[in-house]
Formats: sequence, structure tokens, C-alpha cells
Amino acid sequence: MPNWTTLLVTFICVLLGITFRFRSRVTDRFGNGVPRGPWGFPIFGVFPFLTHYPELTLDRWARRYGPLYSIYLGNQLFTIVSDPGIAKDLMVTNGAVFSDRKEMFIKSQTVFAGRGITATRYNDRWRKHRRIATMWLNQNAVQRYTNVLDFEATDMLKALYVDCRGGALPINPQAYAGRCSLNNMLTITFGIRTDSIHHPMVKRALRLSREFMNCTGPMSNLVDFIPLLQKLPTPLLKRGKQLHNDLVETYGGLIHDIDRKLRSGEKVDDCLAKTMLYIREEEELDHVDMAILASAFMIGGVETTASIMQWFSALIPAYPHIQKKAQEELDRVVGRHRLPIIEDEASLPYCHAIIKEVERCHNPFWLGTPHVASEDFTYQNQFIPKGTVVVLNTWTMHHDPHRHPRPDDFDPDRYINDPLLSSTSSNLSDPYERDHWMFGAGRRICPGMIVAEREIWLTISRMLWGFDMIQIPEKPIDLKEYDGLSGRSPVPFEIRLRPSYIHKPLKNPNGSDPLIVYDGGYYYLTTTTWTDIQITRAKTPNGLKDGERKTVWKDSNSNRCCQVWAPEIHKLDGTWYIYYTAGRSDGDLGYQRSFVLKGGATPWDSYSYLGQLTSDWGIDGTVATINSIRYFIWSCQDQGMQSLCMATLTSPSTIGPVHPISHPTNSWEREEGELPVNEGPAVLQRNGKVFIAFSASFCWTDHYQLGLLTLGSGKDPLSSGAWSKSGPVFSTANGNYGTGHNGFFMSPDGKEYWNVYHATSNSNGACDGNRYTMASKVNWNSDGTPNFGTAPALSATLTGPSGE
Ligand code: HEM
Repeated sequence: MPNWTTLLVTFICVLLGITFRFRSRVTDRFGNGVPRGPWGFPIFGVFPFLTHYPELTLDRWARRYGPLYSIYLGNQLFTIVSDPGIAKDLMVTNGAVFSDRKEMFIKSQTVFAGRGITATRYNDRWRKHRRIATMWLNQNAVQRYTNVLDFEATDMLKALYVDCRGGALPINPQAYAGRCSLNNMLTITFGIRTDSIHHPMVKRALRLSREFMNCTGPMSNLVDFIPLLQKLPTPLLKRGKQLHNDLVETYGGLIHDIDRKLRSGEKVDDCLAKTMLYIREEEELDHVDMAILASAFMIGGVETTASIMQWFSALIPAYPHIQKKAQEELDRVVGRHRLPIIEDEASLPYCHAIIKEVERCHNPFWLGTPHVASEDFTYQNQFIPKGTVVVLNTWTMHHDPHRHPRPDDFDPDRYINDPLLSSTSSNLSDPYERDHWMFGAGRRICPGMIVAEREIWLTISRMLWGFDMIQIPEKPIDLKEYDGLSGRSPVPFEIRLRPSYIHKPLKNPNGSDPLIVYDGGYYYLTTTTWTDIQITRAKTPNGLKDGERKTVWKDSNSNRCCQVWAPEIHKLDGTWYIYYTAGRSDGDLGYQRSFVLKGGATPWDSYSYLGQLTSDWGIDGTVATINSIRYFIWSCQDQGMQSLCMATLTSPSTIGPVHPISHPTNSWEREEGELPVNEGPAVLQRNGKVFIAFSASFCWTDHYQLGLLTLGSGKDPLSSGAWSKSGPVFSTANGNYGTGHNGFFMSPDGKEYWNVYHATSNSNGACDGNRYTMASKVNWNSDGTPNFGTAPALSATLTGPSGE
């Protein structure tokens, strides 16, 4: 009986011996051997160690064998470069030697059929393709179509905003980022674009790019390195062939379309395909050349930039303080009246640093696109034979603790003093000062850097400008896992995008006398429109700006048709009512009265006229239940002054005896000798305390402002002297003039009180339709009284109500 253990050990020893002899025989004429490195297995080399996270294995070996080591995969020798100085010495200084590519069986030979700039050998065909690609990717060319990148970034933001219902629904931004990058490349390459993520081209193009990334990992396909396997009909070979056919059919098909249009004299926008068709004879380009070069744009230019946007969106929700800091910078430099643009990057160092840090932490190409030595080369007494594949180990370079202390932390501050664009940084003479190595190095360095950087800047800076990006506790995001073997993007995830600009007017113009109620998942807003009553609804306050709007009431009765002011929605015993002010068709404001409409079970139902509440002059009516009694409170005439009156609401449309509760006797209620006024009452109750905020002073001045009545403990709200007055409590501030006529609403989780009010940007104050609606949170003083703070500037960023 043979001893199987002995036989096996002997067999392995023989194979290892052969490997060792083979490896140690590879020397230059001075006897310098190849850089040392892990041995691996006979035939397979180190392949079994590089399956799932190859970059981590390469990193481990870099720490063991140093910044230049070698490995075998099958019969192929690889040299792994993990140091910026060595990368520069080899790929830049000796670019004439280290700019070739290996004709990988799947990627170069099968998918690209030996064409396409990315995979071609370092020869005249590559030079020609690189020249043509550069015509569309150099600084001047990119400058010409930056308006496209700008448009697509805004379009992506809008699509995200609409599809997440203004922040109400969770969303996966990946397809949006994919479509944005795709549209940029479609425009540059073919002069076309898609109009939504549901366009069939989006699905097709993103599937092709993904399939490419999954079939072409630089170290993932054993068949690339074992020639014997290339003779077999492996599943991977089948996929590679299919991908080649799909690329030629899809992108070659678009080139055919353009060719047909040009021949029939139709107008075709300038694009890479048109350029190629014009120069095809002089440059000897056949159809497959053109289709594959276009495919290189559609693959190299889509998954890459999209991947950075996706990694950014996946990781930034975990860092609200970083978002806040970026938003403060954006507010300071850009403000809220426009989006950040390309020219802003130099003035926004923190946002710029965030992007560099995302790229350092989540380079989509940890193993780059390998170069190949086109001749024997000896470097620091180590031999790199002709044909060696040279891999930039960017994981190790990006995680070097000397260059990047605490390398696993996401810390944009590490780049805060690095104002350079990556395309400029890649030309620094000191390679240790380069920001990162995501775009490769040397003569094959990514020619799409300029366009990529602009796309990434526009999308990421605008996402920071437009949204708070929030984690969803029940849907944790896995940043360790990824999709793709060559280009990597995060596995599917969902986040919440809460628009971060609630402080912009919620309604403008005609935003005066606002009231918001939150019911059944919607915010409902009513304001004065003068001629009718409209309700706007949306799932977030921000959504109200362009929310669903409908007119619920318009009256032809000449006694109450006109000067329609201050509508308020209130729910009484399960039915919604609208209390409002209206007057006569002759415009005489002395005939303003309070009326009520009856609606249904939701604020969105239809309304019908129910009745008139005040027989005398009376405006701005509101309804509140205090200690289980329902009251109507409005602005009335008393003692010759516009005062506040209160009565029990005996039915939804009738009131009891009238009790004046406040007169405008303080100087701040009759500023500068103008008309003394108390109006716009709004009730606020918390922890047993009852307050009425009201508007004081004449509304055509900038002194129109809020005062506060506080109900004495145990007092009857209708009794004289039950209320004590303080104020003003909320006045003109930060460019908002005449901050008044407010209402209160609760956050969806019932924890926060919000103040909705109007203001004007006219510094003299104004009582016209140019007033806008704003909202800000009410804070509470230690004695239980409300603190309205100051009206935030239109350029400030607020967080929306809690529980959204
Ligand atoms: C985040 C975005 C991008 C990343 C990370 C990236 C990365 C890379 C890398 C690592 C290489 C190989 C460099 C080397 O061999 O040393 C490369 C090559 C290339 N990239 Fe990009 N790229 C990006 C965007 C783009 C864009 C927008 C285009 C536009 C079409 C593009 C077109 C190309 C082409 C054509 C090559 C082949 C160059 C050659 O072999 O001569 N890339 N890219």
C-alpha cells in the first residue's frame, strides 16, 4: 500500500521546488532577481488568496514584503507597487517602458476585440485612439460642454427631490447618479440624453457597464493567466462574447444612426461619434474601432463618476456634523439663491476636501488598470522582466498612516489645505504630495480626469447644498461590501434626503396670514389670496413650495366675495372647517366680517358655505379649545382701537357674547404714531399653560410684529384681566421685515411646535401680496414660556420638523 500522505507531501514539495527554481531563475544579466513576494501554488500562483477582497491581501503582503514585491497568477508575473515614489519612478519617469497593457483574454481580446483605448497595447493604434479621446476630454473641450454637466447635476437633484417626495420617502440614489453620469457621456459621445431613470437606455447602458465591471477584474479571472483554459468554452468566455456583441450593437447602433443622419443632411450635435465619422478615413477607423472607442467612454466615463457619487451618498449620512460644516460653508459662500457652480470650488475648501476624502476612502479601482513592462528593467537591484504586469496598489497608498494618519477614519480635514484639483495634483513633482492615485499614473493616466472632477464637484456640492442626507436606522448601510470586480460601487442602499432649505419661503408671493396644519401625513397651508381660498398640501414643509394646490372656495355673493383674508383650517368633532375673513365687492374694508365653510373628514375634502360669525367688523378669526371650552378669537373694534375679542364658539358658525381681551396700548403696538393694531391671534398651549400670540402695529410698517398674551393660572379666558401681555416677542430681523400674522403647527412626531408667519423683503414693511410664508421652530424658556428666537435669514439653513 502506498503511503498517501508521503506521496502528497512529496508531490507538493516537487511542485514548490519547480516553482522556486522557476522563480529564482528569473534574473537580469547581473543576477538581480525579481522582487521577492509570496510564493503561491504551482500553476495557480497566489490566485486562491485574491478572491474576495484582493486589495486587502495585497495590502497585507505590502506590509510583509515591502513597497515593491512580486506575485504569480498562473504563468503571469505581477509586480505590485505600493509607494508613490516607486510609482513615479516606474510609471512616470520611465513611462516609455511602463505604459503597455497586457492583452487580457477576457477584457482586451474578447470584450474589446483588441480595440478601444483602455485595453490596447502601447502602440500607434493606442496613440491614435488617445488623440481622438483627448479631443473630447481636454480642458478646452470640457469647458465647452460644462453647461451640460451643470444641467445634468441639477436635473439629478430635481429627480431625487421629486421621487423622494420632498424627503417623505426613503430613496436609493444609485440609479440617479448612474443616469446623471450616463447622460453626460451620452451627450458627449452621441449628442443624446435620457429624460428619466425609467428610460430603456438607462437600464441597458448601466447593465452593460456593470457587466463589464464584473467580467474584467484585473486579477479575478484565472482564464486570463492560464492559456490552456482559454481553449475551453467557459461561462466567462460566453459572457465576454455576449458583452462584446451588446456593446457593438448598442453603441455601434447609435453611431450608425448618426451616420445615417449626416448622410441625409440632418443636423447632428457635435459629439465624439460625429468627430469619428468625419475622420474615419484619414484615421483608418473601422466600425468596430468606433463602436469600442465609444464604449470605452460609456464604460470608463459612467460607472466611475457614478460610483464616487454613490459612495458619497452611502457614507455621508453617518456624518451629520460634516454635512453641517459643509452646509455652513455653502451658505456663507454661495448662499441660498443659487446653486454652487464650477467656479465656486476654489472658495469652498471644505466641500472640495470632502470629495477628495471620499475618493481616498472609496477609490473604485483599488488595483487600477495594470500597466505592463514593454522591456526588461532593473529598478534598485530588482529585476522587472519584459511582460511583467505592474499593479498600482492604491489601497495601501491611500491607507498609509504616515501620509494619512488614522487612515480608516473619514476625515475631510486632512485635505483642507490642499486646494489643487486632482488633475493638477497628479502632475506634482513630489509624488508624496499627490492627493490620491484614483486616476492612475503615467502616460495611461485617465484622460477623463477633468470631466470627471467637474461632474463630481457639481453633483456632490449640490447634494450637500440641497439635502440633509440621513441614515434610516432600520436599513443600515454596508460600506465594506461592494459590487463589481474592476470598478466598484456600493451594494444597494437607501437613505432619506431631507431638503435642507426649509427657511426659503414656503409660499411667495401671496404668502401672507399663513396657517399650517399637519394631518394624515400631509402639511396643509392656507394664506390670504384676496379673491378665493386655496389650500396647498405636501408631505414636508419644503414640499409646500411646489406642493399640490387647489382652490376650495370662491364666492359670488357681493357681501363676502372679496378681500378674502386669513383663512384657517380647524377640525371640530371630526369635521374640517375653514374660518376666514371676507368683505364687499366695493372694496370698503369697513365691512369685513368673519365667515366659516364646512368641509369633510380630511382638510382636502370639498367645502360649502356654513355661516357668518361676527355681525360687526371682525377679521382674522381663529378657534381654540381651552380647558375643554371652544372659543372664537378675532380682531375687533373696541374703544376706538383695533383690538382682540373672544367669545365661546357655541356651534361651528355661532358665537356667544363678545369679550374684548386686549387693546393696543403699548408703544410697540402702535409704533411711530401709526395705527394701533392687535390682530391675527394664534393660540399656543403647552404643559397646562395657554398663550395667544398676536400681531401688533400697522401692517404697512416694518414694526408689524408679534406680541404674546399669557392666561393667568386658573383664570376664565373671557374675564377682563385674565391675560397678561408681553412683547414684542418676534420682530423684523435678518432681512425679514414685518414678521407677523402667525400660526402654530406641530411636527409629525408631536414633539416640536412650529411658528409659521409672514414677512416681506421690503425694508419699509408692506401689507401686500409680496409677503412670503416662513416657518421656524419654537423653543421654550425655563419658565415654560415660548421663545420664538429671531427670524432666520433667507440664507440660513434650518432642519425640518422632527419626525419627518
Ligand atoms: C471617478 C472617475 C474616474 C476614475 C476613478 C477613473 C480611473 C481611471 C483609471 C485608474 C484609469 C487607468 C489609468 C492607468 O492606466 O494608469 C483610467 C483610464 C481611462 N479612463 Fe478613467 N476614470 C474616471 C473617469 C473617466 C471619465 C469620465 C472618462 C471619460 C470618457 C474616462 C476615460 C478613461 C479612458 C479612455 C481611459 C483609458 C486611458 C488609456 O489607457 O490610455 N475616465 N481611468
